[in-house]
Amino acid sequence: MALTNLPSPCLPLPPVNKEPFSTNLHGRERGSYQLYQFIQRFQFYPGFSVHPHPLLEPYLCSCPSANIAETHSASVETPARTSSPQLHTFSCSCCRISSMRIELFKMERIQCLYENTVRYNLSESGVMPVDARWLLKDKSSIEQLLSRKLGYPPAGGSELLREHIAEYYGTLPENVRVTNGSSEANFMIFWALLEKSDQAAIMIPNYLQTWGLARHFARAARKFRLLELSSVNGTKRWGLDMESLNRAVGNRTRIILITNPNNPTGAVLTEEEMREVVRLADRFGAWIVADEVYRGADSGSSKSGPGFWGRYPKLLVVSGLSKAFGLPGLRTGWIVGPKKILEKLESCHDYLTLTPAALSDHLATLAMHAGRRKTLLKRTRKIIADQWPILERWIPKHPELHCIPPESGAIAFIRYQFAVSSVKLFERLRLEESVLVTPAAHFGLNSRYFRVGFGYDPLRLRLGLKNISRLFASLRT
Ligand SMILES: Cc1ncc(COP(=O)(O)O)c(C=O)c1O
Repeated sequence: MALTNLPSPCLPLPPVNKEPFSTNLHGRERGSYQLYQFIQRFQFYPGFSVHPHPLLEPYLCSCPSANIAETHSASVETPARTSSPQLHTFSCSCCRISSMRIELFKMERIQCLYENTVRYNLSESGVMPVDARWLLKDKSSIEQLLSRKLGYPPAGGSELLREHIAEYYGTLPENVRVTNGSSEANFMIFWALLEKSDQAAIMIPNYLQTWGLARHFARAARKFRLLELSSVNGTKRWGLDMESLNRAVGNRTRIILITNPNNPTGAVLTEEEMREVVRLADRFGAWIVADEVYRGADSGSSKSGPGFWGRYPKLLVVSGLSKAFGLPGLRTGWIVGPKKILEKLESCHDYLTLTPAALSDHLATLAMHAGRRKTLLKRTRKIIADQWPILERWIPKHPELHCIPPESGAIAFIRYQFAVSSVKLFERLRLEESVLVTPAAHFGLNSRYFRVGFGYDPLRLRLGLKNISRLFASLRT
């Protein structure tokens, strides 16, 4: 039984056993057989691996070494209170079979699995990336790049890069640390700040990295919501549900996580909503972590929308070059915050990637220079202004669809009325129409929405939308 020989992960996710059970490793008794079946099923699960161990072989075959196995146990646990099938701990104290210690980050995993298998990938949330050539326009900048020594850069990013980022926020370089992507920044913060007794309040819908991290590092993640709110003149916007915010934040709250502008809705908080977040954080002494990676990609405006920096002392702003700046491949992110807490976060970085990559640090320094930074943001806004109308015209052709226009970002979160779950819709679009969208379920919502990224190739966007229309037509009949 070669358990390490994993088949292609592009198989349907296995049915999930919601019943907690444990078993010892004794022969073929019922418990062991259940465990055996569990391994059989979960070896196909993306992200799950079963490590070989000499003790496992006899157990799985016929368990002749019952005397050894008897003394060890394995268990599969599904925490009692979870309604989602995502969190499974599978561990065997003797055999060291372990995996899924942290719940599956479905959106990213599914995207990685399928983005290169479809003709029309509309699951991207950024804009068409910038060429390296654009950053290296003149001969001298090419020469500088080529002569760059490929040693380790300073752990928190080079001085000049931190100066440029600090200038963008109107602060000092000592308040900036450069990371590998904003995802690493989020990871470091949640790892460093959360204790097992803490809670984190997380905005939903959202990019669920921080949700998974909070559930892993803290006692609980509590959600507060963005809702479709109607204004007096009848227009709708995604706004903060103050009641759920008040319920989610309390004495145990260590972090309030805001994604502003929001992914997937493209919503931007109002001044009043931001003040309410600050008021609650202050009342309970919580940190505000503001993921602002989409800030700067604002529609219909020549300026970036309001950020959290400067509004509250216990604040960490997370951002990077992946979305509004159109440079995801550089994997450059950053944290802006008080000097003292950044020093604490540095010791987490020491266990992760240590430093930014030298070439990325170099190119990111070019990108964040004030003049280029403005041009990059202007380019992103132009892409959004040019390509949003493609979706804006397509949506009303389908009476079952509704979308609140995004205030920021090249993403649209579209509500639909077909009697099919968001995951089912996503699957059918992928398999029948070769289109990849992102279902609401991957943002923490059970309702019927899907996200379309419209910032990449406009021709592919049009063709992808045509295929989506075709599936919708078949759903009507
Ligand atoms: C809100 C949010 N934060 C962080 C990230 C991670 O971005 P990066 O590429 O900078 O790691 C994403 C990616 O989609 C995101 O949507």
